[in-house]
Amino acid sequence: MRHDVDPSAPTPTKAKGLEARLADEARFIRSWLENPLLAGAVSPSSRFLARVMAHAVDPRGHAPIVELGPGSGPVTEALIEKGVDPARLVLVEYDAGFCDLLARRFPGARIVQGDAYDLAATLANALDAPPVAVVSSLPLLTRPEAIRLRLLADALDMMEPDGVFVQFTYGLVSPVPRIRKGHRLTWFEADASAPVLRNLPPARVWAYRRAGAKGRVFAAAEPAILARLKETRLKLEHEVKAEIAELRERADRLQEELKVLSARAQNGLADTLERLEDAEAELKSDLKVAASRTHVGLLKARDVLNEIEDRVRKLSEAMEEKSRKK
Ligand SMILES: C[S@@+](CC[C@H](N)C(=O)[O-])C[C@H]1O[C@@H](n2cnc3c(N)ncnc32)[C@H](O)[C@@H]1O
Repeated sequence: MRHDVDPSAPTPTKAKGLEARLADEARFIRSWLENPLLAGAVSPSSRFLARVMAHAVDPRGHAPIVELGPGSGPVTEALIEKGVDPARLVLVEYDAGFCDLLARRFPGARIVQGDAYDLAATLANALDAPPVAVVSSLPLLTRPEAIRLRLLADALDMMEPDGVFVQFTYGLVSPVPRIRKGHRLTWFEADASAPVLRNLPPARVWAYRRAGAKGRVFAAAEPAILARLKETRLKLEHEVKAEIAELRERADRLQEELKVLSARAQNGLADTLERLEDAEAELKSDLKVAASRTHVGLLKARDVLNEIEDRVRKLSEAMEEKSRKK
């Protein structure tokens, strides 16, 4: 769907006034309230993030540049500021309200209202040449991995061989998965910007190209930074090695201590067993002595009793005899 252009609309590169910024914020919040998964954010991207997105695109040449999910247009604005001719821009936006706003704000651009995930069909009548870049602010992480991969494949397929697909994310890792089912995907290459800390929340911009395509989007780190990183890595390696050696030493010491302890425990056990056996034997012999002593005592007691009985009997016989004589 091509949107009509209002010639009285403000020029896109003009700095936005406070009123326009507040209107954009309000429009964003409304779109987020209506469909949070589609909007993906409650406010437009900062100009810092938009500039990093635009940095990934070469502004020279004439081939189309497709923007997916332009919303109120901060990235569009950054692209134009960087020198991209608005006539090269094809803005694919789902939300009708944003489409009206974009048509007013970027009269030179082509606005297509439609579904960016159905890329080929949505752009069927909108391109007159293969694009050199697809710049996306779609909330990719709300979609399954397979859909994200298909979008990237579709975008790379429709572009020039060294075309670039640019995407920002608030996440820490690539929003397009680089590993599937345990295997690294080799048909594309990914390059990430440093985190854009002045955007809230901080975000990172990823640039994807076909494997083997020319050019790198984000500059490699400075040699001084690389040297410092190497130094830090060596220091860390050294510290880790020292810690591992100390741990090994402690483990060896502990093992020795354990050996001594277990030997002691075994000796102690043998000792106790021996003492138990001695005690048992001693007890048995004591019992025997006690038993034999008791037996002898009993025999003696019976003799004594017999003797006493005998005396008592003799005494009573003598007493009887005496009383008879009287
Ligand atoms: C996170 S906002 C980014 C807006 C803007 N580019 C920015 O950086 O502030 C996501 C935008 O993608 C649009 N969008 C979400 N799903 C879409 C889809 N399937 N097709 C086209 N646009 C979509 C939303 O309407 C919204 O404008």
